[in-house]
Amino acid sequence: MDPRIEALQRRAAATPGLINLGGGLPAEVQFPKRALARAFLKALGRQGAPALQYGWAEGSLELRRWVAERLHARGASVAPDDIIITSGAQQAIALGLELVCRPGDLVGVDAATYPAALELIAERHLRAVPRWRDVGARYVMPALGNPSGRELSREDRRAVCEGKAAILEDDAYADLRFEGPAPRPLLADLRTRVLHVGTLSKTLCPGLRIGWLVVPPRLRARALRLKASQDLQASSLAQSVACEYLLGGEDFEARLVRLRRFYRARAHKLLRVLRTHLPDWSFSEPEGGFAVWAHPPSSSGNIPDEVHFLTAALAEGVSFDPGSSFRPDRAATPLALRLCFSAAPSASFEEGAVRLARAWRRVNGRRRRDEGRRRRPRSSAERAAA
Ligand SMILES: Cc1ncc(COP(=O)(O)O)c(C=O)c1O
Repeated sequence: MDPRIEALQRRAAATPGLINLGGGLPAEVQFPKRALARAFLKALGRQGAPALQYGWAEGSLELRRWVAERLHARGASVAPDDIIITSGAQQAIALGLELVCRPGDLVGVDAATYPAALELIAERHLRAVPRWRDVGARYVMPALGNPSGRELSREDRRAVCEGKAAILEDDAYADLRFEGPAPRPLLADLRTRVLHVGTLSKTLCPGLRIGWLVVPPRLRARALRLKASQDLQASSLAQSVACEYLLGGEDFEARLVRLRRFYRARAHKLLRVLRTHLPDWSFSEPEGGFAVWAHPPSSSGNIPDEVHFLTAALAEGVSFDPGSSFRPDRAATPLALRLCFSAAPSASFEEGAVRLARAWRRVNGRRRRDEGRRRRPRSSAERAAA
């Protein structure tokens, strides 16, 4: 990430009163604190204290069974032994890249994609490219994209599946589609070359750092060695708490229904106020997830630099995620913003949109004035002075 943007975002996160429409965090009000506290006590009370002991690299069998059953329900026949519990989806993506890529490989990604996956790709001396053909591997979010909030189009889905390249399927938001069930994962039909990534971060809480990686059987032994070499295993305590929560009488499906309703209402509200205050902008219509992907009008001519715009937005008391972080080539144009409806209180959305519109007018107005000044014919007095 551009260090200037990171500095601005860190400042934003620490500024009281700022309306943060960036970050992509889940809503704190949806963390089931009491139920997790009960699960924690139960986990600690188990005989042999597995929550406090070392475990195997693949992680808890109970948790892997739970993941396998849920994938089965979506058409993917995987066994618990095909699954490795990881420290969040982030580690699953890192392991997946390590398993299927060699330094220098091209990794096909969406034109706008998850920034931390792009960072991982770059750190491993791989190169992310916005296409699906002629690449060594593909990283994709078919069920629901971040930042688009949309399911992968049918044409893209077909293109992603073509050929023989390994596919890293990031399913992080699949359970948070507003309408209808999560689509059939690519894993269901391409078992031998899909590495499937899941997480509890979006639907339970990111603090537990519980994710998973489903690998083709031929990669299992190596995946386990890699996992063990990195951190031995995912946290026993976190896995035990998650197991007690998921298998101990909490109705997770009912929770998902509530979460989808909650985030859908927020998405609608944010979109409504954005359209009111920035009527000439375009916004993705999210089908789920946490965010709206926004573009100022392309007819705005010489659109302001995103760092300049973010600085102006912070001065107005609102923050967003600038588009360059989501692009494989880090291009800052065309200007785009990820605006999250997930974490900021929905009562602040209208004021957030007002502040954003004010910042936009400020940078745009100043630019127009500067341009006007440059274009304005000079008076005879000015010519004489020059
Ligand atoms: C698309 C996507 N994949 C993976 C992750 C990482 O999730 P985790 O917290 O499970 O590491 C995120 C987090 O924002 C994400 O948006």
